[in-house]
Amino acid sequence: MTRRVCLIDTDPGTDDAIALWLALASPELDLRLVTVAGGNVGLDRTLPNARAILGLAGSAVPVVAGADRPLLGAFTSETRVHGADGLGGVVLPEGPPATPGIAADAIRDLLRAESRVTLIGIGPATNIALALATEPGLAAHVAEIVLMTGAWAEGNITPEAEFNAWSDPEALAVLLGCGRPVTLATLELTAQALVTPARVAALRAAGQGACLAAAARILDGVPPSRRFGHRGFPLHDPCAIAWLLAPGLFTTRDVHADVCCAPGASRGRTLVDRWGRTGQAANARLLETLDADGFFALLAGRLAVLR
Ligand code: BDR
Ligand code: CA
Repeated sequence: MTRRVCLIDTDPGTDDAIALWLALASPELDLRLVTVAGGNVGLDRTLPNARAILGLAGSAVPVVAGADRPLLGAFTSETRVHGADGLGGVVLPEGPPATPGIAADAIRDLLRAESRVTLIGIGPATNIALALATEPGLAAHVAEIVLMTGAWAEGNITPEAEFNAWSDPEALAVLLGCGRPVTLATLELTAQALVTPARVAALRAAGQGACLAAAARILDGVPPSRRFGHRGFPLHDPCAIAWLLAPGLFTTRDVHADVCCAPGASRGRTLVDRWGRTGQAANARLLETLDADGFFALLAGRLAVLR
């Protein structure tokens, strides 16, 4: 099997935790680096959370601190979903120390060392944007960029904008414009990965490991969403990882995608031209539909092999 060299840029985050464990459990991914930004909660929490998530899995992948704020403007967290600590009150053993350095430097170092790196972004896009904007030639070493970001209809942090896109629209614009293939897991896709009590019970029953048990406890603590009539909540970030493991679970559409960086009510809105109305060439692959039962079976099967 050819393993895909990749990094994950993250802001853990309840669903980020599950995404990181899914990646660590998957031999298809050769995860070389985890970079961390402030997002769901501040960097002072997301960094120890990332260290603890990797530590629980026994991973030695370097974790490097990055941006504590967007390229422009002020930092805003999302504690309503993730709790004040980012993991819904689930306390994990402290992980190994962070690797010294700054995320954007570590990303550029990996891109210099490897000719084909998949960049997986499941938080605000600041760290990856800083890396590519400061040495644009390194984009040639990007195999592809897979992002959980955006929405083509309704937002979740404002009526129009999804949280990651809204947190740093200028950074997302850098990624969408860098000329490398971009895949988008938007809110419309992640809405199909609905976590229900029955799905958490099935996950919990899949194995005995500490990561699986922690994942189930984390999911127990996420409040059900009004958007889904309180039946459950979307498991956003693992969708981006699952795409790289099992693309057969998805259908896709090539689109032109842009992001609104203007101040005002539409800031952070992603403009996804699903029907070619603008006539602009496609710059992104939109993940459109998900086989949800297949997705949750994949998740349970993979997390069950972790310690
Ligand atoms: C995204 O924002 C965060 O709250 C989640 O971790 C996910 O990355 C969903 O809008
Ligand atoms: Ca996230």
